[in-house]
This record gives sequence, structure tokens and C-alpha cells, in this order.
Amino acid sequence: MRLILLLVQCAAVVLSQYEEVASVPVRTERSHICQEHDQPVITQRPEPVYEVDLGDPVKITCGASGIPMPYVYWIKGKKDMTDKEERLPVTAVGQSVLYLASVEKEDVDYYTCVVEDCCTGTIQTVETEITVRNRAECTRKQSADFFWVVVWEYKNWTDAHLFCKEHDMEFAVPRSGELNARLLTKIQESLGSDPNGKKFAHHNMVWLGVTDGVVEWGFTDINTGRPIHYSNWLPKQPDNWKKYHKEGQDVVAMDRVSGEWDDSYGFWKRPFACWCPPRRSRGNRRN
Ligand SMILES: *[C@@H]1O[C@H](CO)[C@@H](O)[C@H](O)[C@H]1NC(C)=O
Repeated sequence: MRLILLLVQCAAVVLSQYEEVASVPVRTERSHICQEHDQPVITQRPEPVYEVDLGDPVKITCGASGIPMPYVYWIKGKKDMTDKEERLPVTAVGQSVLYLASVEKEDVDYYTCVVEDCCTGTIQTVETEITVRNRAECTRKQSADFFWVVVWEYKNWTDAHLFCKEHDMEFAVPRSGELNARLLTKIQESLGSDPNGKKFAHHNMVWLGVTDGVVEWGFTDINTGRPIHYSNWLPKQPDNWKKYHKEGQDVVAMDRVSGEWDDSYGFWKRPFACWCPPRRSRGNRRN
């Protein structure tokens, strides 16, 4: 009962503060409810990522407590302080559940839980993300002769390589100008069509399975360990730039606008491409 009373009072305080700003330039006494003020503490923190299949339900709880109880609401996307964020209904008190009965393509996005101290108006935020599980893999029955799979998830180069292997694919290495152009087209097409792609609208580089970690300046295909015969370097690349790491830049990414390559640090997290080579060049290896 006391709790309900507190909430009502807190809402009244906020309303009257707005009125005050708008009309009366005189500070009134702070409501007694804010005298015993205790900063909000987030008690139910969303996970960083929720991985789902389209059509799945999703329920993400964000909770906080304080005196008086804080407001809690959700924003679709990141809180970028532009005040143009898409605020989801409803603003609750103490706890807010983001519930999607069936995740659709447009729901796949970042979400931010906002906890607002109703005495001071200050906010705390927790960011989370809904992504669609990538179930691609090479199969013997694949209809195309070969295909590329672009994975719109931030992974460092070694984790990207691991993902391709675990999904029974190779880490993408275009072996000719024609294949490089086809991968570039696939990357550009999938940025728009893949539910996870839209989060990467401002991200330009996509990891490939090319490395000089074995022999410096001798770039190899990580799948075969053999030297590459085709490359498509950006002007003045590779440069093995050592600004951020003494080992220099050992692994390669493709620019998704031009299709050109750059050597980079493997610890950077980027989307990446896997591929299923033509059936004729697989076969025995899989038995
Ligand atoms: C990539 O991240 C994994 C942990 O997810 C770590 O073990 C590995 O060393 C990292 N690789 C690079 C090149 O930083």
C-alpha cells in the first residue's frame, strides 16, 4: 500500500516540476517523497545478446529499485541522446518487460532499457541486442554450385574462422576477380536482406580467410595453408601497420563498398564471410 502511494506521489512530483519549468520560475519545496531519495539500482539486467529464430517469442525483463521507485522503459535501438529514439510503450515503475510474441525481421535490432530517477530525471541505460541465429552450412544437396554466407555478427578474426569451421564451411577466400565480385555482390545484397544486416549500415569491413600469420608478407588461405594467387588490395595495402600492435596486421578484410582488401588486426571485431566451395572440390574430404 505504502509503495503504491509513493509511486503516485512521485508521478505528481514530476508533473508539477514540468509545470513549474513551463510557467512559474520559482522553486517550490521538494516533495517529501524525494527527501528520502535513494538512487535507482538496476536489479534485473538484460543479457547482452538474445539469439533467436524468426517467429520465436522473446521476453526480456529489465528491473530497478530505489526510493522512490524509478521509471523503467525500453527504446528500440541505441540511446543516442538525440531524443529521436523510438520509445516503446509503456513506461512502467520498477520493472519493464520487452515482450515480442513472434520476432519479425524488423524487430531484429538493438534495444535499450532506460531507468529514470523520477526525482532528479537522471537516467541509466542497459543495452541489449536481438539477433537471428545463422543456421547456414554446406550440404551435399546444396542447389547452387557454390555459395557464400555473410555473417552479420561482430567477431574477431579467430572466432570468425571458428564459426565457419563449426558450421562445416570454409572461411571465405575469393580465388579470382570474378569470385571477388560475386562475394562483393553477396555482401551488399545480404546487408539489406539479412535480418541482422541493418545493424551494420555504418560498418565497412568484412573478414576474409586470408592471413600472413605464418610467413610475414606471404599471404595464405587459412583453409588450405597455401599461398594465395589472387588478391585485390586497396591502394598502398598491405602495409602491416604497427600503430596499435607490435605484431602488425596479419589478417585480411574486404571493404564492402569497393571489394578491395586491407590487412588488419585480428583482434578487431567485424562481420565475416564463409563459403561453400563447388561440390566437385569438396566430396571426399567430407567422408
Ligand atoms: C578472439 O576472441 C577470443 C575469445 O572469444 C580469444 O580467445 C582470441 O584470442 C581472440 N583472438 C584475437 C586474434 O584477438
